[in-house]
Formats: sequence, structure tokens, C-alpha cells
Amino acid sequence: MGQDERVRAHEVDTARAPIPLLVDVDTGIDDALALLYLLASPEAEIATVLCTAGNVPVHQVATNTLAWLEVCGRPDIEVAVGSAVPLVAPLMTTEDTHGPRGVGYAELPAPTRDPSARSAAEAWVELTRERPGELTGLVTGPLTNLALAVRLDPGVLTRLRRLVVMGGCFNHPGNTTPTSEWNVAVDPEAAKVVFDAFAGLAPERRPLLCPLDTTESIEMHPAHIARIAELAGSVPGEDLSPDDPRGRRSRASVPVVRHLSDALRFYMEFHRDQNLGYLAHVHDPFAAAVALGTVPFVTRPATVDVELDGRITRGTTVADWSGIWGREPDADIVVGTEPEYFFTHLVERVALYVRELYVPGSNN
Ligand code: BDR
Ligand code: CA
Repeated sequence: MGQDERVRAHEVDTARAPIPLLVDVDTGIDDALALLYLLASPEAEIATVLCTAGNVPVHQVATNTLAWLEVCGRPDIEVAVGSAVPLVAPLMTTEDTHGPRGVGYAELPAPTRDPSARSAAEAWVELTRERPGELTGLVTGPLTNLALAVRLDPGVLTRLRRLVVMGGCFNHPGNTTPTSEWNVAVDPEAAKVVFDAFAGLAPERRPLLCPLDTTESIEMHPAHIARIAELAGSVPGEDLSPDDPRGRRSRASVPVVRHLSDALRFYMEFHRDQNLGYLAHVHDPFAAAVALGTVPFVTRPATVDVELDGRITRGTTVADWSGIWGREPDADIVVGTEPEYFFTHLVERVALYVRELYVPGSNN
């Protein structure tokens, strides 16, 4: 059978019990939006949030995540901290993309609680032992924590219901080097440990990979922020414009809208500086929607590997689409979606959640 025949369209599927999730993040502007989207989604039950060093150092990721969950009304969710460094590589962070603290221009209140006593890798292992076959893993940062968990207990991946990863780029340019995507480039050894662990497993166990090929079609524009603000009942209107002075701050009456707008303004300025336009690629919320099945998407199976040694290609993800390596496919790669559907859904869902947060009963 040719590989093209295995291209599969996944329809939206929301008619089922909430999906329990282990969410591993490097918060991060789009990670923050992904968390808000999950909190707003009845299809999701966040079991725990795990922090990986990536966009910013891991202590800052933890601070951002704790603070954001509090602002978004869920201070009860466990937040566990992972390793401060990748498996082998020295840590690189990207404050130019996500701001000095990882949340753009947003000034989140300091969190009022500490992270969990257990490490992120321990949480992966322990929670999948407590709930074998139930949890979906969603990783929107480097794969360091999950690779450490696999080393602690190789059974962790087969105890997951499914793994969904934002990472890699295949038939598409990189965003970190010409051929590598950020989450893989930060910790290529970790990505290889995780991807290799799926070799030989049944097709239904294969991880779903959301690479730049698809996530760079997920363009958030000022109009989306304006609509979130409007539907959430925030005043005055949010009207981000490329003509605004750099770093202008939101005056939105609703705190989540204000923080989101300040974060996304920084992200849009960054994208404009990269000649991509006044918009933001929100990779991680899309991966979250794939994990929940709340967005239509198309997958194509492939055998995936990570270059660790290349002089100019280290961190590059390679997909063998046609069996040239003689190895069975070990990943389902998301090769297409409907961005407009996604944004209509995301904007409405996030806005109504935020509205309910400040004016309970307003959505009834
Ligand atoms: C990924 O890199 C990070 O900067 C984003 O949060 C996203 O997870 C995109 O390459
Ligand atoms: Ca991320």
C-alpha cells in the first residue's frame, strides 16, 4: 500500500467524556493561550501541568504557569517543574520571541503558591501508573521531561492513551535554524529518545506530531484579539495595529484579556520583525485542539528521526514518508487543517470562558 493511501482526515469529535491530560509546557506566549483554551474546553480535564526549560528558563516557566493558572481561575491544578537543562545540549532560550519573562509585555501578578514537590519526570511516570491507558500527553515545549521519564520508566509511553507533540518541521523551513523547529532544536536528544521509543508500536499508539508545516498556517491577527475582548465583555475595545508605538499596553477592563493582549502584541511585533506580517503563529493552542479532537485535521504516517550530528542540520526532523529506511511508520504527522474553523472556535470558546470568570452566570 502506498503511503498516500494512509492519509487520514480526522473530523471534529466532541461527543465524548472529557479527556484527561498531562500538559508539558515552556510558557511561552502561545503555551499560555493553549492553557487558557484547555481550561475553557469541556472536552479537557487537565490532570497536571509540567514545566520544561525552553522559551525561558524553567524557573520562569514555572512562575508564568502558576501565575497564569491563577489569573485564569484554576489555582488548584498541580504544576510540576522539570529539568533546568536539556539532556545534552546547553540550554538556549528565546526572550526575543516571547519577551524578557516569556509572556511578552504582560505583567502577571506573582503566584501565591509553590510548584509541586515532585519533578515533572516523576509526575509523567506516577500519573500514568495511576491511570494507565487514560491520559493523553500534550507537549508544547522541548521533550526533555518526557525523555527523562522514559529513562526512569520506559513503560510511560505505552501507558498513555495518546501523545500529541507540537514540534518539528518536515517539508517546511525551520524557525530556529533553516531546517529545525524550536522545541526540537532546544533538546534534539530528548526528541530522539521519545520518537525512537515509538518504533515497532501499534499504529494507534503512534504520536500525533504538529509540525511548523501546519502550525505556521495558524495565524492569529489583531481582529481575533478584538473579538475575544468584545465577546468577553471587556472595555474599551482592543484594536492592536502595526502603526501603534512599540510596546503600547492594553487598558482592557478584563484582566485575562489585558494580559493576553499584552502578550500577543509582543508576539506580533516579533513576527513583524521577522517579515512575517503583524500576526502571531499560535502553534501550541492548535496542538491542544488536535489533542481534544475539536478541530478538523489531516494526518500522514511517516517514520521520523532527528539529526543529532549535522554540522548545519543538528536538530532537524526528517520524515521518511515512503519507507525508504525500511522501518515501519512511528508517527502520524498533521499535514493540514482548517485555520478559519480553528480561530472561530478558539475565539468564541476562550472569550466565553473569560466572561464567565468575571461575571458568573453571564453565559446562561
Ligand atoms: C514552538 O516554539 C515555541 O517558541 C512556541 O511556544 C512553540 O511551542 C514553535 O516552534
Ligand atoms: Ca511552547
